[in-house]
Amino acid sequence: MLADALVRLAVPADAGAIAAMSREYIEHGLPWSWLPARVERAIRNPDTNVAVVDAPDAPGTLAAFGIMSYRESDAHLLLFAVHHRRRREGLGSALLLWLEEVARTGGARRIRVEARWDNVAARNFYSEHGYHERTLRKAMYSGTLDGVLLEKWLVADNGGS
Ligand SMILES: CC(C)(COP(=O)(O)OP(=O)(O)OC[C@H]1O[C@@H](n2cnc3c(N)ncnc32)[C@H](O)[C@@H]1OP(=O)(O)O)[C@@H](O)C(=O)NCCC(=O)NCCS
Repeated sequence: MLADALVRLAVPADAGAIAAMSREYIEHGLPWSWLPARVERAIRNPDTNVAVVDAPDAPGTLAAFGIMSYRESDAHLLLFAVHHRRRREGLGSALLLWLEEVARTGGARRIRVEARWDNVAARNFYSEHGYHERTLRKAMYSGTLDGVLLEKWLVADNGGS
């Protein structure tokens, strides 16, 4: 597992690179909704954490990023991706654990995330990290692609829900 010291909070100058990764790795085949301006708003939003890992060998590019928003005791992982050349190195795990720790420290009790139904890599990845698949949602993405809703409780007592 890589050291979490590699993770830093994004700055507005990262917005373009994050948006490009979202389009290529997450929103492919769908309308591009995470445009640079939207990512920049997330970076500036105090209720949202945008975390990145720099690519050490390619200045100005990112190896990974994650966007997590907070609302009361719920955290929501909105976007998450690792550069295709840096996968299966534990980078995604290091970044996810970093975001989870921040959420826990901030008082979140649960983290929610969605993935495409056919995204086996992401479903395995989240499952490895203790996320449970709650619901299959038909045509969740742009009315065409099925999705799955996952969640992870950060506390033992989930209030019975
Ligand atoms: C899903 C994703 C974030 C995983 O990042 P990663 O850095 O490769 O993940 P890790 O190296 O930390 O993998 C941890 C574990 O997750 C599981 N996993 C990761 N990628 C997998 C794959 N392609 N197939 C099956 N299991 C996978 C494995 O159990 C892996 O452990 P192992 O390598 O010891 O077998 C990455 O594949 C990615 O960016 N995908 C495109 C974007 C995306 O789908 N984002 C999530 C939905 S928003």
